[in-house]
Amino acid sequence: MEVILIAAISVDGKIAQSADQNSLEWTSKEDTAFFIQKTKEAGVVIMGRRTFETIGKPLKGRRLIVLSEVPGTVKGVEYVEEKPQDLVARLEREGVTQVVIGGGSSVYSQFLQAGLVTDVYLTVEPYLFGGGVPLAEGFHPIQMSLIDVTKLNGQSVLLHYVTDV
Ligand SMILES: NC(=O)c1ccc[n+]([C@@H]2O[C@H](COP(=O)([O-])OP(=O)(O)OC[C@H]3O[C@@H](n4cnc5c(N)ncnc54)[C@H](OP(=O)(O)O)[C@@H]3O)[C@@H](O)[C@H]2O)c1
Repeated sequence: MEVILIAAISVDGKIAQSADQNSLEWTSKEDTAFFIQKTKEAGVVIMGRRTFETIGKPLKGRRLIVLSEVPGTVKGVEYVEEKPQDLVARLEREGVTQVVIGGGSSVYSQFLQAGLVTDVYLTVEPYLFGGGVPLAEGFHPIQMSLIDVTKLNGQSVLLHYVTDV
């Protein structure tokens, strides 16, 4: 199973200035286009309830799984309360071969902590926030290999790493 972490980060490694910030406020249109293309390719996206609230609607043409302890009400969204290992194992049994981990920080952290992430795509956007929501924290160091660097536009760079799991 490919478990693909996708995030846009500031130059100082933050994914948002605050937990209620919608990423579209500061990320490039090329990053959005990459996210759409990659999530459509994978077909399944997992994200946390807070990230979903910044979006507020299902993702067209993709299965969207939202982690929450409280069942939500938005149609077309699967709300689950599951450990990352159990969720990935269940999806694998269902025949899913690729899944995108779409954030936020708490969800990235759990999937990294569980050692499930196989690929990391980071778009570095040209901002220093000086504070805010970190990409992830609270897990043991993970060595990664850089596979590819793509300049998305004059200001934004897409990095692709793989982890050795
Ligand atoms: N730059 C980027 O690429 C990017 C991408 C994604 C998000 N973000 C940003 O990240 C911020 C949000 O991150 P965050 O860490 O605060 O929140 P989050 O990870 O999006 O959501 C946290 C919530 O998800 C639920 N949850 C997480 N793991 C769970 C599990 N295993 N089982 C059941 N429920 C679980 C809980 O919801 P309940 O409280 O409902 O139980 C928890 O409060 C936002 O600012 C967003 O814009 C940035």
